[in-house]
Amino acid sequence: MDRRTPSPERRLLFDTLCDYVEQIRSEGMEGLPLGTTSPARIAQTREPAHPETRETAAIDAPASDRIVPKTQIETEQMFSRYPGLEKTTTLEELREFIGDCERCKLCKSRTQVVFGVGNSKAELMFVGEGPGAEEDARGEPFVGRAGQLLTDIIERGMGMKRSDVYIANVVKCRPPGNRNPEPDEVAACEPFLARQVELVKPRVIVALGTFAAQALLRVKTPISKLRGIWHEVGGVRTMPTFHPAYLLRNPGDKRLVWLDIQEVMKELGRPVPRRGKP
Ligand code: URA
Repeated sequence: MDRRTPSPERRLLFDTLCDYVEQIRSEGMEGLPLGTTSPARIAQTREPAHPETRETAAIDAPASDRIVPKTQIETEQMFSRYPGLEKTTTLEELREFIGDCERCKLCKSRTQVVFGVGNSKAELMFVGEGPGAEEDARGEPFVGRAGQLLTDIIERGMGMKRSDVYIANVVKCRPPGNRNPEPDEVAACEPFLARQVELVKPRVIVALGTFAAQALLRVKTPISKLRGIWHEVGGVRTMPTFHPAYLLRNPGDKRLVWLDIQEVMKELGRPVPRRGKP
């Protein structure tokens, strides 16, 4: 059946679903795809530049249709766990607020808090999972092998400098043995990432890997389904893509990351280097 010329029943069903999604989005639900646009508008949109990039009509929709800010209530609830957090006005103040953190059990095994690095006014922010051994030793995110690949993506792929962007992780302390962070650890660190996003005010976030994407979008969907689609987190357009560590094991998927990164470049209004593929 041709989905571009839906029957009246399908159109009604689709519009009803769109209305429902918009309603729960306006109530503060995070992680919803931005493609909830009526078939009429879908029909007006261009074909995606790349078939693998499941770009939606939202890319062409007016900005006011695309970005729905996180509700004030939700942010306030998150910040209320740490009184005074909302008063931090710079990344330095936020770092000071976090201090020698002992708010979760990761403090027992980590060497130091790995806060974040880069341009405090960056228009592009990368969010990873959590520090590994090298990051834990050096106190900076993404400085190991995966970090080198991320730097290549930024510098050789995007034609930007690593120092132009801001890089942070979902959790700021290394999980022992590089295991995944546990829900209580994510919950303890989540307000800090949210405040980092508020202070940097990036135009675009790139969520690196399953863990960052699921934590930011508050979904359980696999990264293979999330990547290549624009989402919004706290009012910021967010593109999930594969984690550089995954790419080290699956170099064939660099092609997909490159497609996602090209979407990010377009969104930022930056030229896409023709031979920039890392
Ligand atoms: N992987 C991450 O997700 N973050 C880092 O900082 C390093 C590796």
